[in-house]
Amino acid sequence: MGMFIVMEGIDGAGKSTQAKLLAEWFEEQGYETVLTKEPTDTAFGKLIRRLVLTGGREGIIDGARISHEAEALLFAADRAEHVHKLIKPSVEAGKVVISDRYFYSSLAYQWARGLDLGWLVDLNRFAIRPDLTVLLDLPVKESMKRINGRSIKTEFDKIAELQKKVRENYLQLAKRFPEVRIVNALADVEDIHNDIVALVEHEVLKK
Ligand SMILES: Nc1ncnc2c1ncn2[C@@H]1O[C@H](COP(=O)(O)OP(=O)(O)OP(=O)(O)O)[C@@H](O)[C@H]1O
Ligand SMILES: [Mg+2]
Repeated sequence: MGMFIVMEGIDGAGKSTQAKLLAEWFEEQGYETVLTKEPTDTAFGKLIRRLVLTGGREGIIDGARISHEAEALLFAADRAEHVHKLIKPSVEAGKVVISDRYFYSSLAYQWARGLDLGWLVDLNRFAIRPDLTVLLDLPVKESMKRINGRSIKTEFDKIAELQKKVRENYLQLAKRFPEVRIVNALADVEDIHNDIVALVEHEVLKK
C-alpha cells in the first residue's frame, strides 16, 4: 500500500508550492509519486472551472451562476472520478499520492457559502481518507498579499470576508478530522517544507 497526503488551506496559503516540494522530496527518497489536484484536469474539472471558478474569481464570492448545491455536486462528481480513476489505484499500486486540495476544500468553502456541513460530509463519504492532511494556516491578510493582483481591488473586501470564514472553517475541520494537522504557513517556504517533512516522517512513515 502506498500513501495519500493532501494539502489544504485558503487561497494563496502555499498549497501548490508545498505540494510540489513534498512530491520532489518523496521522489528523492525513492518513492514513486503522483502529484495531483482538485478540481482535476478531467472534463468535470474543466466544467467546474468554467461554471464556478471563472475569470475575476466571481465564483469565489457569490457562487457564480449555478446554485450552491449544484456546485457541491459538481465538485463531488469530479472527486469521485479522481478517487476511483487515480487516487485509489495509485495508492493500491504502492505509490505516494499528493493532492493539492481534496474534500476538505468542499467542506470549508461550501459551508462558508451556507450549505449544511452534515450534508456536505455525507455527500463526500465515498472519498477515502488521506493518511495525512496538511492544513496550511495563515492570516487572510498575508495570503491576500501573496496573491495580490489575482483579484481586482473593488472585490478585495468581499473576498477577504469569505476567506476569513473559510479559514475558520478549516480550523473547525481540523478538530473534527484527526488526520488534519495544522502547519503555520506564515514561515519561509523552506521552513514550512521542513515542518511538513517532519510531520510526514512522524505521522505517516512512523520513523
Ligand atoms: N511561505 C511563503 N512565503 C511567501 N510567499 C509564499 C510562500 N509560499 C508561497 N508563496 C507565494 O505565494 C503565492 C501563492 O502560493 P501558492 O500558489 O503555492 O498558494 P496556493 O495555496 O496554491 O494558492 P491557490 O489556492 O490560489 O491555488 C505564490 O506566488 C508563491 O510563490
Ligand atoms: Mg494552488
